Amino acid sequence: MFNIILFGPPGSGKGTQSEKLIAAYGLKHLSTGDLLRSEITRQTPLGLEAKSIMDRGQLVPDEVVVGMISSALEANPQAQGFLFDGFPRTVAQSEALDKLLNLKNTSIGVVLALQVTEEELVQRLLNRGLTSGRSDDTNESVIRARIKEYQDKTSVVADYYSQFDKVVNVKGEGSVEEIFAALCSEIDKRMS
Ligand code: AP5
Repeated sequence: MFNIILFGPPGSGKGTQSEKLIAAYGLKHLSTGDLLRSEITRQTPLGLEAKSIMDRGQLVPDEVVVGMISSALEANPQAQGFLFDGFPRTVAQSEALDKLLNLKNTSIGVVLALQVTEEELVQRLLNRGLTSGRSDDTNESVIRARIKEYQDKTSVVADYYSQFDKVVNVKGEGSVEEIFAALCSEIDKRMS
């Protein structure tokens, strides 16, 4: 089993590259953002609680997302590996993920960290907001709050995995195909 964390700030291309990577490597895609939006669409109590937090650009509580990931791991016992997108976002989430994977006798193989400048992130998300219907993309102040939340609480996740020598920085600007090729090259080095 080979497990990957695709890491980076909002708008860095995690979702875009995840779709291509799961097709290329047969991994199960686990995106906490997608799982939360599915709860919102179904108007579950969890979704109703999460929506107001997401609309402010803040992180939902660790125990909520760790619970969702734990259930998703249990629901996919046959997976050849997992691609985590948008998770973990705090050190507490990272530690919880390590414990959950340890119970399955597996671990994180590599953390691929997409590098994109803040102005490019804001531009991409404002552009997407024109058509995506995502309420957290329509307003520049919410987009900047998401980026600040990343800087304050999530960027340290890279430090956490660096102590185990698992982080590789990948340039996240350029064409989608160029970035995909760079990500594949890093994965292939570690899988072989
Ligand atoms: P989440 O859904 O994870 O959103 P995000 O991290 O803000 O990421 P995005 O989906 O906006 O960006 P992305 O990096 O996937 O980029 P994408 O490929 O879409 O989280 C949303 C919210 O849920 C959070 O704010 C939080 O409230 C909550 N949440 C989620 N997980 C959580 C957790 N673990 N803990 C606590 N709270 C959590 O690309 C963006 C745009 O750029 C697209 O339009 C795309 O077409 C374009 N694009 C992609 N690549 C390129 C390129 N190379 N060149 C030009 N444009 C490009």
